[in-house]
Amino acid sequence: MTTRAVVFDAYGTLYDTQSVAAITEQAFPGYGDIITQVWRLKQLEYTWLRSLMRRYEDFSVITRQSLAFTLRVLGLPDTGDAFERIMGKYLHLDPYPDARPALAALKGHQLAILSNGSHDMLDPLVRNSGLDGMLDATLSVASKRMFKPSPDAYALVEEKLGAAPAEVLFVSSNPFDVCGAKAFGFKVAWIERVRPDVLAGALGDRLRLAPLTLFRILRTQMDELDAAPDHRIQSLSELPALVGAAPA
Ligand code: LAC
Repeated sequence: MTTRAVVFDAYGTLYDTQSVAAITEQAFPGYGDIITQVWRLKQLEYTWLRSLMRRYEDFSVITRQSLAFTLRVLGLPDTGDAFERIMGKYLHLDPYPDARPALAALKGHQLAILSNGSHDMLDPLVRNSGLDGMLDATLSVASKRMFKPSPDAYALVEEKLGAAPAEVLFVSSNPFDVCGAKAFGFKVAWIERVRPDVLAGALGDRLRLAPLTLFRILRTQMDELDAAPDHRIQSLSELPALVGAAPA
């Protein structure tokens, strides 16, 4: 079946969530890596917990609460404006270098984001990075009050773009999202942002595992959830060849 829409996850796929590391380190010297990793781990965990609890809060609230958790357990009091400065980076995350060229090369296809992010976070991020003019839509799960990988969240794509699941190529780096999207019925490309050989190299000294390495083990390698991606890519630049020519 032809691909009518290419839909991207935002955080970790188009935008590098690790790009907060400079500001977390600047705010709390020596703690940048542990803050960055625990924050992202907890942020995702809270999306799943709140979905199961049926106590939805927007991703902006979840992002604040997971940062508050992180600073509290690490014993780092928020003196001054460190909390707000760290939060502010989420509106200015670095796009991955392959994001813009891939979107440009896919021009002519229907292109969208489907993110757990709420519009108060996503819209400024997309605008600040200049990707807004390259996307047909930025879809937030907020209207469903349910986070990915719930099928309710993925159903937004057909409702808003009119493309049936089998006509959608969904692109994500997040294994939980890849499995959820595949289980939902999308064609899925997994952008493998952390290759196993890179991870293996970092595993050399197992007793001194850096927080980043632990994060990579837990959140960047394919999960055992009985749902394998259709494609495994190393760069978003591989997408145009997968998708084929844009409809006339
Ligand atoms: C998103 C999260 C999953 O952008 O990273 O939806």
